[in-house]
Amino acid sequence: MHPDLPTIRAAVLAWYDAYARDLPWRRPGTSAWAVLVSEVMLQQTPVVRVEPAWRAWLTRWPTPADLAAARPAEVLRAWDRLGYPRRALRLQECARVIAVEHGGTVPDDEEALLALPGIGQYTAAAVAAFAHGRRAVVLDTNVRRVLARALEGRALPAPSLGRAERERAADHLPRDRATSVRWNVGLMELGALVCTARAPRCAQCPLRETCGWLRAGRPADEHAARRRTQAWHGTDRQVRGRIMAHLRARPLTEWATAAELLAAGSHGADPGALPDPGQPARALASLVADGLVAAGTDARSGWYRLP
Ligand code: ADE
Repeated sequence: MHPDLPTIRAAVLAWYDAYARDLPWRRPGTSAWAVLVSEVMLQQTPVVRVEPAWRAWLTRWPTPADLAAARPAEVLRAWDRLGYPRRALRLQECARVIAVEHGGTVPDDEEALLALPGIGQYTAAAVAAFAHGRRAVVLDTNVRRVLARALEGRALPAPSLGRAERERAADHLPRDRATSVRWNVGLMELGALVCTARAPRCAQCPLRETCGWLRAGRPADEHAARRRTQAWHGTDRQVRGRIMAHLRARPLTEWATAAELLAAGSHGADPGALPDPGQPARALASLVADGLVAAGTDARSGWYRLP
C-alpha cells in the first residue's frame, strides 16, 4: 500500500463533497437504467453535450423495454451529435437483452453487466458502482491519470490498461462500499475538473502536498511517442458523420439516392474533386456494413435510409 494513501483518500473524498458538479445522473432516485445510459453516452462525449441528450432520451424512453421497442432510425436520430453512433444501436441491443433476459432490471453484478451488448469493463464497473452502490474498480482515463500522477509520479498512465495497473487500483479501493463509490466518482471528478490531461490546475488540487508527479517537478509523459490521437478533420469519421447528419435531418422513412448521400459526405462538393475521391463512397459502404444505414434491395437498389 502506498504510504500516502490514507491522506490521499481523505483529501479526494473531502474535495468531492465540496466541489462535485451537480450532474443529473448523480442525483438520488436516478434509475439504474438512466445511470447506464449516462455512462454509455459519457464514454466518448463531453458532459455538456450529454446532459441535454440524456434528459431527452430518458423522457422518451424511460425504461429498457421502451428503448427496445423503438425504431432504430428514431434511436439514431435521438443520438444526434453524440458521435460514434454505433453506440446507439448497441445501447438498443442492450435494452433488448435487459428487457427480455433480465425482466427489465439492470443487473447489479459486474459479470452479468459485462455480458450485455455494448458494455465493456469500464461501463460494467461504473454501473455496478454508481447505479447499485457496489464496490468495483472503476478505471476510466480520468481515474487512471489521477492515480498515475498522485501515486506513481508519472505524467500519464500507460497507453493501454494492463493487469498490474488494475490490481494496484483494486488495492487502493476503500473497503467500505459507500466510501468506495465516492472514491471512484471523486477520482473521476478530480481528473475531469483539476487533474486534466493538458493543463492541470495543480495550485487548486487537494493532492498538491502529496502528489508524486508534482513533487518530481511534473516530468514529461514517457509514452508520448506511442500515443495516437484520433484526427477528425478530413477523416472517414468526419465524412460518415456528415452522411448520418444528412439522413437524420430527412423524413426517416423516405429513401435517399447514393448521389445525394455522397454529396452530403463531401459537404456538397463533387466527390470527384476531393483529394481522396473514393472517400464518400467508402464512408457510405462502411455505414451500411455497420448497420447504421439501410441499403435498399431490388427496386430500391441504390437507395438508402436510416434502418
Ligand atoms: N459520474 C459518474 N460517472 C460519470 C462519468 N462517466 N462522467 C462524469 N461524471 C460521472
